[in-house]
Amino acid sequence: MKVLGLIASPRSLGNSEICVKEILRNLPQEWEKEIINISRLHIEPCKACYSCLSAGKKCIIHDDLERFLEKIQWADRVVLAGPVYFLGEQTSVKLIKDRLLTILNEGEAFFNNKPCVIAIPHGIENWEGYGREAMLNFAGFLGLKVLGCRIINKHLPGQAAEEDSLAKLRALAGALAENKELPPEKHDIIYCPVCQSSLLQIHSDGNWHCVMCGASGQLTADNGKLAMGGLDLGVPRYSKEGMEHHGQALLGVNKEFREKRREIITYLKPYKD
Ligand SMILES: Cc1cc2nc3c(=O)[nH]c(=O)nc-3n(C[C@H](O)[C@H](O)[C@H](O)COP(=O)(O)O)c2cc1C
Repeated sequence: MKVLGLIASPRSLGNSEICVKEILRNLPQEWEKEIINISRLHIEPCKACYSCLSAGKKCIIHDDLERFLEKIQWADRVVLAGPVYFLGEQTSVKLIKDRLLTILNEGEAFFNNKPCVIAIPHGIENWEGYGREAMLNFAGFLGLKVLGCRIINKHLPGQAAEEDSLAKLRALAGALAENKELPPEKHDIIYCPVCQSSLLQIHSDGNWHCVMCGASGQLTADNGKLAMGGLDLGVPRYSKEGMEHHGQALLGVNKEFREKRREIITYLKPYKD
């Protein structure tokens, strides 16, 4: 079994590094393990040229993304850890995520539900913002299946090595070793039953909508407790089918742009200077 550990923090021996290393240490010894610190890769921002969307085309930017994607394909299981920055993900996660248009038409190669676990260090209690959801989303768009996700509330570099965090990290390692899902961390929060996100839109008619994976349904009340009912998956965004659907939709946008280009240029004239 080949395991890839991804650290998304510039801090040496910081909490994300401890998280990845502790999880890897608790996996079977004979498993092959590799670690990449993605914050140290050279990744350029997406140029939004859409060149990579056509069949057989790849991203036109030649940087460390190809190497990163090869490593994702190499791995059988993935461990991901990155801190909350300004209530969201660390920059390297977003830089890579935006470049994932290039895999939309390579569903076969990526959407094979490789098991993944995620640890998210953050410093201030209740300041995790959408950091957890941003990391779930990263794993989802890489075609990974998230078995468990834990918030590590530690501020100082390396504090994730304290016993309460280690217990959470060992639970993640156990889930990955056995390929078993861990229940979400907080029992009093309603999570999306498909992607575990807590970012849900609640509509006045009692419908809920997961803004991340696109699932929807109806809120029900049972014994004074709210629950999620009537699940409608739509086209699940974090799936091979969902990625192909997204890729085809963007190809449509690209075609429309080519058709309307001359007309669009006429409106653009006043904005040129
Ligand atoms: C630029 C920056 C922004 C941060 N923003 C948040 C935040 O919004 N919420 C929070 O709880 N902690 C925040 N933190 C604290 C880190 O998430 C925390 O120290 C974490 O343990 C760092 O993990 P690392 O050692 O792996 O880098 C921030 C830290 C930095 C450097």
